[in-house]
This record gives sequence, C-alpha cells and structure tokens, in this order.
Amino acid sequence: MDFRCSTLNAFALLLNNIMKNNSYHLCFALNGDEKSLEINPGISALELLRDVLDLKGTKEGCGIGECGACTIVVDGQAVNACLMFAAQLDGRQVMTVEGLSGQDDLHPIQQSFAEQHAVQCGFCTPGVLMSTHALLEEKPNPSRAEIVKAVAGNLCRCTGYQSIVAGIESAVGGCQREKNED
Ligand code: FES
Ligand code: FES
Repeated sequence: MDFRCSTLNAFALLLNNIMKNNSYHLCFALNGDEKSLEINPGISALELLRDVLDLKGTKEGCGIGECGACTIVVDGQAVNACLMFAAQLDGRQVMTVEGLSGQDDLHPIQQSFAEQHAVQCGFCTPGVLMSTHALLEEKPNPSRAEIVKAVAGNLCRCTGYQSIVAGIESAVGGCQREKNED
C-alpha cells in the first residue's frame, strides 16, 4: 500500500470514528495553555473559540473566508478560523488576540495601533493584529508591500487602511525592541 493510500484509509477511518461517536477528543495549545476537551466534530475553530471556550476576541464577520475578522495564528500562520474545523487544531499551537498581551500591558503591535489611530469601530482589529503578528514573526522587518500583502485579507469596513499600515510600520521597531530585551 503506498503512502497516499494508507493516509486516505487512515483519514476515512478517523472520519468514520468521528461520525459514529459524534464526538472528538481535541488536544491543542491555546495561548500557551494545554487544552484537552471533547467537542462536536462538526464545529468550526471559530465556534470552538467563541461559543465553547468563550473567547470573544476573535470576531465573526462573513463566516465564509472573505473578511479576515476571524483571523487566528496556527503554528505561526495566519488563518481564517471560520474555514477550519475545530478538530483540525489537534496537536497544534494556536494563538488568538487574547494571547497577544500580558495582563496589564499592551503588546507593541497594540500599542502602535493605538498611537497611530489604527482602530475605529474595532471589529476588524483582532484579525488585523493577528495577521500582523504572524507577519512580524516571519519577517521582523517587512517592506510596505509585504505589510499590505499580509493584511490584504483583512477587510476594514471603516476603511482605515492607511492608519492600519502606519500602525504596522510603527510596530516593527517596538517588536524588535521587545525581542532584544527578552
Ligand atoms: Fe472568517 Fe470572515 S468570518 S473570514
Ligand atoms: Fe471598523 Fe476596521 S475599524 S471595521
């Protein structure tokens, strides 16, 4: 049996098992904490975060992968939580906007957004922050074009794009300073 065939069989078995039991045991790391819980296998990662774990920072806009309001970071990549099954988070490192800052202080990206007035109604902001975090982890010193590309999937209904890009540009130095201090 070749690798692809055995992988497909394993996936079919898993799917069968999930549907039969209508329950899935999910283990993953969320904002640095280990989570282990039984979930309905049909729920999305967004439903898991907002409805099961009561983390309301991740927003639901379109629900179909168009607006980026639900952006979270999974294994370092910015992804739309509305497009993932919660079960796909198994074994992965997940970060939401709640994990960005400490108890008492803002993350440098949040601080820069506040200083550059990059927040209007704020609905898109958690998603933009998470896309920015993923970008700066991968490219600590991105060009303006790379910044624009990184947040191209995050729609801002208040159309504050110039301030958002300015906020990200100003966050670049802050994130580097924080890393140097660690
Ligand atoms: Fe997920 Fe719009 S709610 S992309
Ligand atoms: Fe209102 Fe972006 S600040 S949607």
